[in-house]
Amino acid sequence: MNSIASYQSALITAARRVRARAYAPYSKFAVGAAVLDDSGHIHAGCNVENAAYPQGWCAEASALAAMVAAGGRRVVAVAVVAVVPPGAGPVTPCGGCRQKLREFAAGDCPVWVADDEALRGTYSLAELLPHGFGPEHLLA
Ligand code: THU
Repeated sequence: MNSIASYQSALITAARRVRARAYAPYSKFAVGAAVLDDSGHIHAGCNVENAAYPQGWCAEASALAAMVAAGGRRVVAVAVVAVVPPGAGPVTPCGGCRQKLREFAAGDCPVWVADDEALRGTYSLAELLPHGFGPEHLLA
């Protein structure tokens, strides 16, 4: 595959596109996410809410599920797209999704956060989830 940075715009575009398919009738807050696997394939997903509110799930979880279903196991970059009110900071993955990403991504994995207009921030997964618990803690 090419350099990870070279996938930035394709990953954000995939997240923007899938965001349009979000099922968010309750929050009205549509989110798109895309993960790049270590073969250079992009997997996208949106949030899917539920009338029983806690049963909904995030865009990042959908994107990870799509990757796993396609046979991918390593995430090397993440993009998250949402549109926020003026003055609010960019949307970063929620705490639960940081942990879900941790399962498949290294600490230096870039997490690009964007809206419909532009890239709004770049973080590493380790910045978002410092001292995270991961599979290496279990596997001898
Ligand atoms: N949400 C995501 O899909 N990803 C995030 O990073 C933040 C929050 C969703 C969950 C819920 O469907 C809606 O946004 C409002 O919280």
